[in-house]
Amino acid sequence: MKLLDRVLSCPKAELHLHIEGSLEPELAFALAQRNHVDFPFNSVESLRAAYNFSNLQSFLDLYYACADVLRTEEDFHDLMLAYLRRAAADGVVHAEIMFDPQTHTARGISMATVINGLRAGIATARDESGISVQLILSFLRHLSEEDAFATLKLAEPHLAHVAAFGLDSSEMGHPPSKFERVFKACRDLGKPVVAHAGEEGPPAYIIEALDLLQVSRIDHGVRCVEDKALVQRLAATQRPLTVCPLSNVRLCVFKEMARHTLPAMLDAGLCVTLNSDDPAYFGGYLGNNLRAVQAAFNFDAPTWARIFRNSFNASFISAEQKAEWC
Ligand code: ADE
Ligand code: ZN
Repeated sequence: MKLLDRVLSCPKAELHLHIEGSLEPELAFALAQRNHVDFPFNSVESLRAAYNFSNLQSFLDLYYACADVLRTEEDFHDLMLAYLRRAAADGVVHAEIMFDPQTHTARGISMATVINGLRAGIATARDESGISVQLILSFLRHLSEEDAFATLKLAEPHLAHVAAFGLDSSEMGHPPSKFERVFKACRDLGKPVVAHAGEEGPPAYIIEALDLLQVSRIDHGVRCVEDKALVQRLAATQRPLTVCPLSNVRLCVFKEMARHTLPAMLDAGLCVTLNSDDPAYFGGYLGNNLRAVQAAFNFDAPTWARIFRNSFNASFISAEQKAEWC
């Protein structure tokens, strides 16, 4: 079997995936019709044509607009099931999936609708493929600390279904320090935390996420290479980085895949995992990310084995489960 085929079929975990970012245009249109939502695009093609991003914010504006079609438990079920079917086809046996409750509660959709719908989709997928899933409740960093605390309160009845907490949305101007107290409250609940840092933001944001938020892993973190001491620290601690190659190229963090810092990160001994971030918007699910990386860098079999081992080691699954998959 060719190396790329082995890479695609190898069991792996996906640790950086926004469920709202898996909303394909076809499903968005179907849900807009089902829910009688006035959608600002008149065809799947015109929506797809808008997938032309110059930076993170230009993407987020469209991502939040499209999320408006998600209204009912059934919608969240359908969204989750569609993603998990695609993930399973790419060899994903375990996924840790972020959702942004504030995107929905701000529109009057209840926390229960979101979480019950996502859980129903997970249950259907588990029956189909056996895939294992954990949910990460992610706070929107462009909103206030007060809003994040109110969201945490709304999540209280559902905490048994929340494996971890995260931090996403517009990075520049919203450093991790803004959420130090919220993340302390999350950790006090006994949950691990993660945060986007060093996607567009400087290495200092990664250092804040480590020191102030005490994150278990960094989402993206690709700008760490600009700070030698930080790279040494990340290598020494093996703090995982959930890298999303197609996302970084589509959001112009790197001009092209060949300029991605992934090889430098691996050479420095970092615990790198590969993920798809918002696959409906960035040109593909995990398999397409792996294809694009292999086309650019032609990694050997031990490098791929290391990346997939990292994906399990960096996950929140039990030591016994890790031993089974690694
Ligand atoms: N929300 C969804 N995708 C994101 C990304 N790549 N960065 C920050 N927030 C996000
Ligand atoms: Zn992300």
